[in-house]
Amino acid sequence: MKIGILISGRGSNMQALVEACKAPDYPAEAAVVISNRPDALGLEYARYSGIPALVVDHKAYASRTDFEVDLHAALKDHGVELVCNAGFMRLLTKGFVDKWRDRQINIHPSLLPAYKGLHSHERAIAEGVKITGCSVHFVRTEMDSGPIIAQAAVQVLAHDEPGDLAARVLQAEHKLYPHALRLVAEGRTRITGNIVTIDGESTPSPVLFSPGLYPPG
Ligand code: GRF
Repeated sequence: MKIGILISGRGSNMQALVEACKAPDYPAEAAVVISNRPDALGLEYARYSGIPALVVDHKAYASRTDFEVDLHAALKDHGVELVCNAGFMRLLTKGFVDKWRDRQINIHPSLLPAYKGLHSHERAIAEGVKITGCSVHFVRTEMDSGPIIAQAAVQVLAHDEPGDLAARVLQAEHKLYPHALRLVAEGRTRITGNIVTIDGESTPSPVLFSPGLYPPG
């Protein structure tokens, strides 16, 4: 399955997906990386990896819809079958989301539906939660909502600063996203309403794992 990866910055999740795609038995191929910001660090890695890396700069467009027309065209030009948002920081309109319905996924650094939007880690710490994590989900119009494919749990440690927690969750993201993409690209995900089921699901489930819930110290 040809994937297009949308980024806005660092691109470490994009890098995790691209690395996964290099394995011969991985069911997805990175066809293009597109950033809405010309200065996104991730573009360098994509180019270094020999993957077409484009900028569709949202600031160059008069409207969101105009921006999305070119974004859609760039994805189509590269034969993209599934869009993977990876730290892509633009809200997409219903028109674009509907065009890619059930063919666009996103990663968010919380256990959805908790802590949608920005500053997930700050809010988790402020509210004293003991477990947070990350989620990969199909994209719907409402921000950070849509059928959840897979989640990973991460412990919030005493005295965590948001940056500490973000770094720990990011490590889980880098495992979870390639894992979730594999399930989608293998055609194993079935969506019914807001629920995703996985064909051939075993016990323990392939869609939930919790790396290092009890780290030393
Ligand atoms: C990740 O935490 C992702 O979940 C969130 O933004 C961050 C992007 O990081 N949406 P990177 O660009 O993938 O390194």
